[in-house]
Amino acid sequence: MVSQLIYTSDATPGLGEADLAAILAAAHRNNPALGLTGMLLYGRERFIQVLEGSDDAIEEMMDRIESDPRTGNIRRLMLRSVDAPEFADWSMGFRRLSEADWSAHPAVNRFFDDPPDMSNFKAFGSPARFVLQAFRDLHGQ
Ligand SMILES: Cc1cc2nc3c(=O)[nH]c(=O)nc-3n(C[C@H](O)[C@H](O)[C@H](O)COP(=O)(O)O)c2cc1C
Repeated sequence: MVSQLIYTSDATPGLGEADLAAILAAAHRNNPALGLTGMLLYGRERFIQVLEGSDDAIEEMMDRIESDPRTGNIRRLMLRSVDAPEFADWSMGFRRLSEADWSAHPAVNRFFDDPPDMSNFKAFGSPARFVLQAFRDLHGQ
């Protein structure tokens, strides 16, 4: 069993290509040693990330990300246990969401455009998984 955390956050205004590259480089450098895998999506100045691994490794990474000036307004959407990692192939997969991606995946709109209500976070769990799995499948193409 591993834990799986999904959150969304806002990119700090002015975040650029070099910032994204540095975030991914850090993930590829650090995640294998922490036993973390996952997927990061970026679009419309927002992130959605799934982090998989032990609870301790996930919390350590969330501490870092919460104090990272490149992002803010972090909203944890779902934490659950899964039998096996769903993103095991990547220390951190990445995909930039294009406008075409947005229209092809209405769940993305729901996810990003309706502010998540944490008191009802389970309602966002399924669309979150739906969206991430859709993009996981695209990622391999
Ligand atoms: C949205 C977002 C996602 C991130 N995801 C990861 C990650 O999966 N792994 C990681 O090591 N750093 C990630 N970071 C970067 C960390 O906040 C931190 O800068 C990094 O872990 C520091 O690594 P270093 O000490 O090797 O430079 C992320 C940052 C942001 C803004």
